[in-house]
Amino acid sequence: MIPSDFEDRRICIIGLGYVGLTLAVALADVGFHIVGVETNPTIRDCLANKKAHFSETGLDRRLQAVIEAGRLEVHPVIPVGDTSTTYVITVGTPVDETKHTKLAAIQNVASMVAGALKPNDLIVLRSTVRVGVSRTVVKPILDQAGVPFQIAFCPERTIEGKAIEELRSLPQVVGGIDTASTLRASRLFHMLTPSVIRVSSLEAAEMVKLVNNTYRDISFAFANEVAFASEAAGLSATEVIRAGNLGYPRGGLPLPGPVGGPCLEKDPYILAEGLALHGFMPELSLAGRRLNETLPQRAADYLDGLAGKRHLNVTRIAVVGVAFKGRPATSDLRGTLALPLIESLRGVFPDAEIVGWDPVASASDIRRELAIGATTTLPEAVTGASLVVIQNNHTAFKEIDFQCVSRAMAPRGVIYDFWGQNESEDLALDNGVAYATFGSAFLTEASAARSASTSKGARAGVGDLESAT
Ligand SMILES: NC(=O)c1ccc[n+]([C@@H]2O[C@H](COP(=O)([O-])OP(=O)(O)OC[C@H]3O[C@@H](n4cnc5c(N)ncnc54)[C@H](O)[C@@H]3O)[C@@H](O)[C@H]2O)c1
Repeated sequence: MIPSDFEDRRICIIGLGYVGLTLAVALADVGFHIVGVETNPTIRDCLANKKAHFSETGLDRRLQAVIEAGRLEVHPVIPVGDTSTTYVITVGTPVDETKHTKLAAIQNVASMVAGALKPNDLIVLRSTVRVGVSRTVVKPILDQAGVPFQIAFCPERTIEGKAIEELRSLPQVVGGIDTASTLRASRLFHMLTPSVIRVSSLEAAEMVKLVNNTYRDISFAFANEVAFASEAAGLSATEVIRAGNLGYPRGGLPLPGPVGGPCLEKDPYILAEGLALHGFMPELSLAGRRLNETLPQRAADYLDGLAGKRHLNVTRIAVVGVAFKGRPATSDLRGTLALPLIESLRGVFPDAEIVGWDPVASASDIRRELAIGATTTLPEAVTGASLVVIQNNHTAFKEIDFQCVSRAMAPRGVIYDFWGQNESEDLALDNGVAYATFGSAFLTEASAARSASTSKGARAGVGDLESAT
């Protein structure tokens, strides 16, 4: 718990989305009094019922505890006469169609904070922004309050699905406008985590976040390039990458697959936007992002070709695992590549019905966010499907009985697993169904010659499909 003489005991957090709410609960959990501000009435209603509006491991239990202990209150605006001494800004920073950050929410909140500012308050910016926004956009708005204040940028680096755990363990990066701001923000985050990394400026801290995420995006892009290369060379990327990583201290390449989500879909663009103001274009960063964005159309084109070769009339497609990632599990559909995938599949199979299912995201969220039909169970989704596309790497897809799935599907259907979690010559399939993996030139097929109970997959190069079926 925080020491009784700790200077900043009452903290106002503005924007109770994924970042704001998890931080609010973590801080309240260690003893801070949190004044949460959230404009969205649906979110405030959920919080009034002591429930989060998204799924996050360990969050609901702690949320309920801190609300019941009176350490988290929620308001639509900063309450008049609020005595918080620290304001943390956690609103969204999406990009527009031209990949430029929409800063309206940050500017609105800065104005709201300026209206509440008291001498020597600390402002912490936690939203991801292009380099320079804290100093050139937020600070000038706060200056209008006409009182002295301190300001620091402290990026959020947790991964959805493990945010509560990581808020207490990840090193927190802190960069203030001056030493006093840096030290004061460092003391605050030290109450959460044993390790705080102080950097020399607001801009260095802003850049750390963008570099961390862009590096991740580039590493996934390279894995995806290895997937394209392996398909072309008649190999399996999973086999190549696993073998290259195993026991090798300089390995570490991730497995290929769709890369999306509310951060990676935009952070390389935000990096580029800030650097353009300094006359620099980060070409590798942008190339990686653009390569990752090609996966949905490539997959749709591949499936179109495969359906043609198998004389498969595609009337129903099940896209399963539609949250933007499967591990750690999340219900978040923001930035998921399932959305462009569905659009691409619609383009090549205009007459097919498309339904979705996800182990975590609800059917109602899928219907609303992805504009497709949705089922509440996997068997409902795959029944009668000509194509089953596994979009994310949730562990549920490793445990599926593929023989049952193949029996429920249309004859000669195709299971396309972006993550290759079941890539194996021994995969049991029936009903003429084939299992294909992104990044692999191999196809595992049900063998018509074998009985249902003993059927083993037969491997064939994609080029040999017609003779193999
Ligand atoms: N989601 C993540 O895991 C993650 C991780 C690291 C960094 N980030 C960054 O953190 C920031 C927030 O991300 P998020 O996912 O929490 O976004 P979010 O959209 O889930 O949450 C933002 C919240 O702010 C609220 N809001 C907007 N304007 C407001 C105002 N004037 N007053 C009060 N509330 C207001 C919105 O209603 C929303 O609930 C973004 O810049 C994002 O890039 C997100």
